[in-house]
Amino acid sequence: MLDLSRRPRRNRRTENIRRMLRETKISVDDLVMPLFVCEGERIREPISSMPGIYRLSKDEILKECKELYQLRIPAIVLFPVIPETKKDPFAKESFNTEGLYPSTIKMIKQELPELTIITDVAMDPYSSDGHDGLVKNGEILNDETLEILGKMALVQAKAGADIIAPSDMMDGRVKYLRKILDQEGFTNVGILSYTAKYASSFYGPFRDALDSSPRFGDKKTYQMDPANLREALLELELDIEEGADIVMVKPGLPYLDVLREFSLKSRVPVAVYNVSGEYSMLKAASMQGWLDYEKTVMEVMLSFKRAGADIILTYHAKEIAQWLSKN
Ligand code: PBG
Repeated sequence: MLDLSRRPRRNRRTENIRRMLRETKISVDDLVMPLFVCEGERIREPISSMPGIYRLSKDEILKECKELYQLRIPAIVLFPVIPETKKDPFAKESFNTEGLYPSTIKMIKQELPELTIITDVAMDPYSSDGHDGLVKNGEILNDETLEILGKMALVQAKAGADIIAPSDMMDGRVKYLRKILDQEGFTNVGILSYTAKYASSFYGPFRDALDSSPRFGDKKTYQMDPANLREALLELELDIEEGADIVMVKPGLPYLDVLREFSLKSRVPVAVYNVSGEYSMLKAASMQGWLDYEKTVMEVMLSFKRAGADIILTYHAKEIAQWLSKN
């Protein structure tokens, strides 16, 4: 017998000991479900690169929201699918008060006032250039874009958004949006900022869902270089100064180090976006029978919590809530 005073395996011996000593737990309270709303009625259109996720018309979105609410999911984040004919270089449809997006927000708020609605502030779903900013001679303009973001944020707040989430990565947008919201009396509308949003290839399936790929070039002049961590800390400092209520790291799995740094340094809650490509990887591998879907999803969620996430935006949210409720 070896003379060992420390035998860490003692704490792993039975399921009840392990359960008692577990440091990190996943709860439905941590989850936000992203949803895609499209025009029309009774539409549930599958997104081929995201098996199990659909473009839903307003009536179907409402059904979905009711199910999520019953499962006790606290919030949704909503994205609009805009037909090509309504896209233009100025994303004008994004501040049409009668548009698909504000009318969907209003409808959900009316039926399910307690379900938290997080709205997306960015030009790309409405832009004929497929960029998150205004384009001039192939360049993405910063300050001119803010005016458009301000208009769309107000439309969303008026429609009943609880939290607006700028996903564009323009400089100074949190400060700009906070000021506009306050001026118009929306002091209770929060800002969840996409603080460290990387120029990632994991967004591919999302761009399929919205048909929102950039029509030229890429997003590297505004989204962050995947090689950089220090720069993420600068973005964190700025967003907190500018008034963000929640900061976010995106994508999730390939950026757990960034998430960890945020959780140690942030004075506001930290969210992580487990993006479309991360979802599709696990779905695809499990559909092939190569991975156990439920177990790998839960392990990924644990990794986010362990790294320090307070909130997880994930396309797996509904399934996780179902698993948690049956256990
Ligand atoms: C764009 C936006 C993107 C996502 C959320 N908002 C894609 C992009 O920046 O091109 C990606 C989300 C996902 O992949 O799940 N404003």
